[in-house]
Amino acid sequence: MKIGVFDSGIGGLTVVKSLLEHQLFEQIIYFGDTARVPYGIKDKNTIIRYAIEAVEFFKNFELDLIVVACNTVSAYALEEMREHAPCPVIGVVEAGVLATSNKMPHKDSNILILGTKATINSKAYETQLRKLSFDNLQAKATGLFVSIVEEDIYNGSILDATFAHYFKDIKKPDAIILGCTHFPLISDALQEYFGEDVVLIHSGEAIVEHLEQLFAFSKKYDDPKLEFFASENPEALRGVAKRWLALR
Ligand code: DGL
Repeated sequence: MKIGVFDSGIGGLTVVKSLLEHQLFEQIIYFGDTARVPYGIKDKNTIIRYAIEAVEFFKNFELDLIVVACNTVSAYALEEMREHAPCPVIGVVEAGVLATSNKMPHKDSNILILGTKATINSKAYETQLRKLSFDNLQAKATGLFVSIVEEDIYNGSILDATFAHYFKDIKKPDAIILGCTHFPLISDALQEYFGEDVVLIHSGEAIVEHLEQLFAFSKKYDDPKLEFFASENPEALRGVAKRWLALR
């Protein structure tokens, strides 16, 4: 299978990392819309327009599948992408909801959803979780984490102050949905803040689980072909990919 992975910028590399760890694909083509990131503060119509343009870009590659690593795009533009794409399009929101349901057998578990302003405003996670009878939900837009991670800050006083700011009214959850590409990079700090017993739902792991349910993977690919494209400064994105994915 040859797949495209789409994100608003570099954050979707956390999803690529999970895909690589599980060796599911022979070829991965990554596109980050670095010229127009962040999407998480933009409105629905703009996000949909950008997402359709990404589908047009992917049409150059005869893909078998497009994985939308960006939670904001998955929350707003999946249907529109599917209408325009010549292949299936799978998003991280649906995958994250299914992973939550698999990991949390009790429907009264308290689930904290973290994401960009757009993702939280869309209520995409909440709507889908409520359909599965999860009703005990908290949601918080925590967009500053995006900039903090992009500054390579994964712990320390800036993050501690941001936690205190965002989480002062949040009660301890049973599970946290890391509903943004960047948040897995601060998962250790979140785990330490909320406690080791809190279950963290990671989009990358969730999408792997979801893909394994949808498709019969018969082979493992330990050396897939990787190509990284960006709408601005692709060299910078390739540099981050090297570091985050520990590529040679
Ligand atoms: N990729 C976005 C997401 O997962 C975060 C960065 C942005 O705001 O574009 O929601």
